[in-house]
Amino acid sequence: MPKSIFVANALPDDAMRLIPAGVEIDYNATDTPLSKAELIRRLKGKDGLICHITTTVDDEVLASPGLKAVANVAVGFNNIDVAAARRRGIIVTNTPDVLTETTADFAWALLMAAARRVVEADHYARSGAWTAWKWDLLWGHDVHGKTLGVVGFGRIGRAVARRARGFDMRVLYHDTVRPDPTVERELNATAVDLETLLRQSDFVSLHTLLSPDTRHLVGERTLRMMKPTAILINAARGPVVDEAALVRALTEGWIAAAGLDVFEEEPTIHPGLLTLRNVVLAPHIASASGETRVAMATLAVRNCLAVLEGRPPLTPVQ
Ligand code: GLV
Repeated sequence: MPKSIFVANALPDDAMRLIPAGVEIDYNATDTPLSKAELIRRLKGKDGLICHITTTVDDEVLASPGLKAVANVAVGFNNIDVAAARRRGIIVTNTPDVLTETTADFAWALLMAAARRVVEADHYARSGAWTAWKWDLLWGHDVHGKTLGVVGFGRIGRAVARRARGFDMRVLYHDTVRPDPTVERELNATAVDLETLLRQSDFVSLHTLLSPDTRHLVGERTLRMMKPTAILINAARGPVVDEAALVRALTEGWIAAAGLDVFEEEPTIHPGLLTLRNVVLAPHIASASGETRVAMATLAVRNCLAVLEGRPPLTPVQ
């Protein structure tokens, strides 16, 4: 029997070309997520599924007879019921490493934009309101020399911390797992509990997985621990932050500003955020450089093919 793959969302040609001619492909070459019924129908009898984070792969989807691999084109995998996949002997893979630096770059883009009010400045400059140089126009917050708090000190969190060295920043981090002491030394980062991090950091950047433990990790209680001058960055997963609480924090001045790439109910953004000027919003694009998106898609295809050919996948979700 020839192997077969359902590619549930659009991938770059460079990645699609890696699939050998002998493998049967059903391809939904769009970004539009399929309904669950359509997903189940088209997955029927396939050995592999390659999908984006917009495809929810729950136990019912995983029940597809013969399914062996689910290759997510993302590092996060909260769209997949990994425990159910494990029970069914289906291998789940993600795309770590290839997007680490690009995602860290973007977290910094949000940080800099929020601190120095780049989006507001752009709107102002275009609006025609700029008629004279003004001493007190669009004052922001310094970045250099401040304290950066990184919540979730995995690959991306560490890459964000590494960039802070160029800004002479003090780095605090919080994670349930402590890295090798050489990593702490290299990055000049100090492990602290979450409360200390929130109370002492000028910038708090989130880089945790979404799990029941991290859902609403940043909510009213934790936002109130932050400095009134603090800036929150979220390029991890939307539900790590309680958006309703964040709107109140930004409106009432519990914190100064935020930079958000991810949201609780994507693509819907809490209406309270849309009207605030002290928040920079992006449509979940932290890994969206041309090079990185191709690398992610290529890795996902290679992972899927490896499982189908009986080889170990390059980057399985453990
Ligand atoms: C994007 O959000 C990813 O998890 O790669």
